[in-house]
Amino acid sequence: MLSILALASLIGYALAQQAIFLLPEPGTSIAPGATVEVELHQADTTSSLAELGIAIGLMVCPSDGCAYWDPANDGIGQILYNGPFNPQWNPDGYTQSFNLTFPNVTGPSILSLTQMQGLGVSETF
Ligand SMILES: *[C@@H]1O[C@H](CO)[C@@H](O)[C@H](O)[C@H]1NC(C)=O
Ligand SMILES: *[C@@H]1O[C@H](CO)[C@@H](O)[C@H](O)[C@H]1NC(C)=O
Repeated sequence: MLSILALASLIGYALAQQAIFLLPEPGTSIAPGATVEVELHQADTTSSLAELGIAIGLMVCPSDGCAYWDPANDGIGQILYNGPFNPQWNPDGYTQSFNLTFPNVTGPSILSLTQMQGLGVSETF
């Protein structure tokens, strides 16, 4: 059995422009333990926007399915990546790819992105 992915982008804090998943696409089947390219797209940024980092998590949905699971409140599951986000300009816009190894789990799952950005130089957190 494979994991079928649903995708969610979560709000971090001081969020101005949110990145989205280009890859994988919603509904993608992922074999347990597979390494998969995850590509993020960031809307054009302003010079005052500082990328503070992202976390990509995989949550296997509860037995009643993914519909009522809100990663922002209910949790993002196992962290697949937690670190810097430094999208580079290319013909698709600002993107960054990560090769991430998925856990040995099966069933409907939510891949979520949590993003932290700072806007402006005088802001304190
Ligand atoms: C991911 O793996 C593919 C295939 O091995 C490779 O071409 C690509 O450069 C890798 N991407 C990153 C971001 O490491
Ligand atoms: C994944 O989990 C299954 C069931 O627990 C197990 O049989 C299998 O060996 C595991 N595969 C890996 C790569 O850990």
